[in-house]
Amino acid sequence: MNLVSIDEIDIKEKRVFIRVDFNVPINRDRKVADDTRIVAALPTIEHAIRERSRVIIASHLGRPGGKLNSKLSLEPVGKRLSELLNTEIFFPEDCVGDAVKKIAGDMPQGSVMLLENLRFHKGEEENDPRFAKRLAAVADVYVNEAFSVSHRLHASVSGIVDFVDTACVGLEFKKEVVNLNRLIENPPRPFVAIFGGLSASEKIPIMESLLDKVDAILIGGAISNTFLKALGKEVGKSAVDQMALYSAARFISSASARDIRIAIPEDAVLIKGDLNNYSGSFIMSTDTFHKDAVTVDIGPKTSEFFASKILSAKTVFWNGPIGVYEREDFKKGTLAVAKAIADSNAFSIVVGWDTILALKRTDYSDKIKYLSKGGKAALEFIQGKRLHALEALGNKLK
Ligand code: 3PG
Repeated sequence: MNLVSIDEIDIKEKRVFIRVDFNVPINRDRKVADDTRIVAALPTIEHAIRERSRVIIASHLGRPGGKLNSKLSLEPVGKRLSELLNTEIFFPEDCVGDAVKKIAGDMPQGSVMLLENLRFHKGEEENDPRFAKRLAAVADVYVNEAFSVSHRLHASVSGIVDFVDTACVGLEFKKEVVNLNRLIENPPRPFVAIFGGLSASEKIPIMESLLDKVDAILIGGAISNTFLKALGKEVGKSAVDQMALYSAARFISSASARDIRIAIPEDAVLIKGDLNNYSGSFIMSTDTFHKDAVTVDIGPKTSEFFASKILSAKTVFWNGPIGVYEREDFKKGTLAVAKAIADSNAFSIVVGWDTILALKRTDYSDKIKYLSKGGKAALEFIQGKRLHALEALGNKLK
């Protein structure tokens, strides 16, 4: 689909409604704890300001379930946005209604209004056309800059498109789709995919969807225990995703039938006890795993092997932390993977907030070619699943 982006259409002096994903962590002091998502939307917002548009920004925050919940007000987000834009912004008490209409009518060109949390209204998650129409009432142009919400059939990303004359995507949305497409449309080979994280049940379908594109899949993190167990190995007291054992075994055999290398850790860093109570760590081969131990990271031989595969790749995809990266002692695997990607000449893309957080604890995050902001929607896109927002935009552009 050829997506039209905000810089390709005339938005001069128009009322531009930008749906963003400002679903950011808020700390106890009611301050934004991580503004990555806000910063990512700035080029689109600043473009609209430069065009002297009246900029109306809408987002959800958390899951208030269609009810007003002051803890999930976008007010702290508005403060951060105002600091980043270095300008005062309008912040009405709701996302629809008379006050919103009045501000939208009176606000000066080049000014910004942030609407209150869309999910305070049931109509948002129910994709209620009446709610979508109320949102659209203040928009001359609709801009979707919330790729990470594209998998949701919600009024502000789907239904609204039917009620506006002009719809397009934001600059980051376009970048996300272009970069994700590079993974699925003839990616340069060798293509190496690295998976980690907690849930083998969630990761195996993604691995399966990449099988006809990749040359090797490297598996670290907690999910590696499920793969080790599926191969009949001892994993001690490490958590295993019991529901995924069969699909892990089936996946390994279908990959080997296609001659695709599935690399499961040959050694691991282990502790006895749990993360709150252990005395020291040790390294063991995964062939001689200690029955009382728990995996906390990949071992040095595995790190070295992963790095060699990554360094020879032309395309690298990474999803899921490799070890307990929050602890200095157990982030060597994550560091080895991040460094190898940074040192390689491959097109590299990292997907998933936990992975990006892990990466940000290394010195390599700015060396990765693209850090996806797409979260679950990006993973669904890679698997070729239906994304409601993209479908709505596609229908509009037909
Ligand atoms: C996210 O944080 O992944 C997006 O904002 C979507 O949030 P949701 O899972 O609550 O729809």
